[in-house]
Amino acid sequence: MAELFTPFTLKDVTLRNRIAVPPMCQYSAVDGLTNDWHEVHYAGIARGGAGLVIVEATAVSPEGRITPGCTGLWNDQQKEGMARIAAAIKKAGAVPGIQIAHAGRKASANRPWEGDDHIPSDQPGGWDTIAPSAIAFGANLPKVPKEMTLDDIARVKADFVAAAVRARDAGFEWLELHFAHGYLGQSFFSKHSNQRTDGYGGDFAGRSRFLLETLEAVREVWPKNLPLTARFGVIEYDGNDQQTLDESIELVRMMRARGLDMLSVSVGFTIPDTSIPWGPAFLGPVAKRVREEAGLPVASAWGFDGPHLAERSLADGQLDLVMVGRAHLADPHYPLQAAKELGVERPTWVLPAPYAHWLERYQMQK
Ligand SMILES: Cc1cc2nc3c(=O)[nH]c(=O)nc-3n(C[C@H](O)[C@H](O)[C@H](O)COP(=O)(O)O)c2cc1C
Repeated sequence: MAELFTPFTLKDVTLRNRIAVPPMCQYSAVDGLTNDWHEVHYAGIARGGAGLVIVEATAVSPEGRITPGCTGLWNDQQKEGMARIAAAIKKAGAVPGIQIAHAGRKASANRPWEGDDHIPSDQPGGWDTIAPSAIAFGANLPKVPKEMTLDDIARVKADFVAAAVRARDAGFEWLELHFAHGYLGQSFFSKHSNQRTDGYGGDFAGRSRFLLETLEAVREVWPKNLPLTARFGVIEYDGNDQQTLDESIELVRMMRARGLDMLSVSVGFTIPDTSIPWGPAFLGPVAKRVREEAGLPVASAWGFDGPHLAERSLADGQLDLVMVGRAHLADPHYPLQAAKELGVERPTWVLPAPYAHWLERYQMQK
């Protein structure tokens, strides 16, 4: 039996297999509200057979959106839309997850296909950004953020908690905190973006504090029997990787002690100039190190979609769950193709009966 198609249990949640759809922004919301695009998209992907479908980076406050088209969970109307999506994912047999996020200094940008650059604050869709320090990301995102006050920090933590409560009430069973990709959480941890001199910056403890306090506060409201996970960039590929990785693993250990159930291992993306060794499954060895040294289950994305590669990453102990993103956009029935390639018996049965029944017969007739 292919390992990719074995169940995975975390807390009281069991995924039907080890294929997870990572969060992927659709940039198609208005005022943070989901619509028919999101409902059809997420239901379609969940019907394809993945074990877990994580809804896109969903902002905890309006200024935390990456673009004006990003989804939000800062009000109850948004919660109702998300409840329909969670129900559709669950009905299709996948576990409904959601990533909650604050984009920090990378917020207020155009949609990727409209330029991916900052929108000036005096133009529609533009707003002032906030971050640990008043340092711009640079490149396409030149806006200088406002340095967060202690009140700002307390408010954003409370926003994460309120969004987690709404996610819980909307029926999600898997929560991921977005602490990666140069957004707010990641930018507190990185020396590149955090040069505060108070208790939320400086040494390792100071730079970790926002992430740990946010995690702890969310754990209080997120049900104990449901997985609480985070996505975190454990490495930047900026030439200082050994130290960053050592510190990151220490932080993940501390997060685990405060109730983190799993980590989605990713890249920091805190600065524009890096030497990321792009290639199939390049994060595999990094993920394995985190898994072994921090002692918790891990997932990862970025080029794990080759079914044999995915299978090997599980067999080699690099990953517990394989995140497959863009291949699901290309083909929401990716799990069917993977099952065929891995020689799974009766692969069509990864799909729901209204598809599987006919495909099974068709296959026998051929
Ligand atoms: C359209 C699109 C939107 C994305 N949005 C998010 C997001 O909301 N949150 C996140 O953590 N990563 C996001 N990512 C990164 C994906 O989760 C994933 O890491 C990436 O696609 C690499 O995996 P893949 O090689 O299987 O596609 C996005 C990627 C794409 C292509």
